[in-house]
Amino acid sequence: MTVSPDDLVLARASYDRCCAAPDFFVCFYRNLFKLAPQTEPRFANTDFTRQHKLLRHALGLLLSFPTEPDTEPTILRRVADRHGRTDLDIPPEWYGAFVDALLQTVTEHDGEYTDAVDAAWRRSIEPGIEYMKARYEQ
Ligand code: HEM
Repeated sequence: MTVSPDDLVLARASYDRCCAAPDFFVCFYRNLFKLAPQTEPRFANTDFTRQHKLLRHALGLLLSFPTEPDTEPTILRRVADRHGRTDLDIPPEWYGAFVDALLQTVTEHDGEYTDAVDAAWRRSIEPGIEYMKARYEQ
């Protein structure tokens, strides 16, 4: 699955603007828990100050994934395996809500948001999201 360079440029620039908003990650988890309440108990013991930093880095990995080598171990291998059945056990069916909560938060924080930006994000992160889902059983 190839992602066009134009999409990656649009999505990465949008992500830079989002990261400049101090409450982006707080709002992301608020949106996720509203859209997918079944995810909230999984974070019962989470240090969110730490989690926001880890997710900030990992969203960067999602946006780099399409232009990195696809040989194992990929740049998402560690994060993917952490979410797999034998560790955090995050069901692949939940990732759709993650993407929707992410794009809802982008809409709310990116002052230059357009439908084209939304579509660019979705196409850009799809390979990384599919990779994480596919590693669930590993
Ligand atoms: C609905 C989908 C997801 C759920 C329910 C979920 C849930 C979790 C939970 C419960 C943790 C552990 C938090 C803790 O240490 O207390 C975690 C850690 C993490 N998640 Fe997710 N996650 C999801 C999707 C993703 C995706 C798509 C990414 C990649 C961008 C991601 C990146 C991370 C990272 C980087 C960590 C920290 C890993 C570590 O501590 O080693 N998560 N996630």
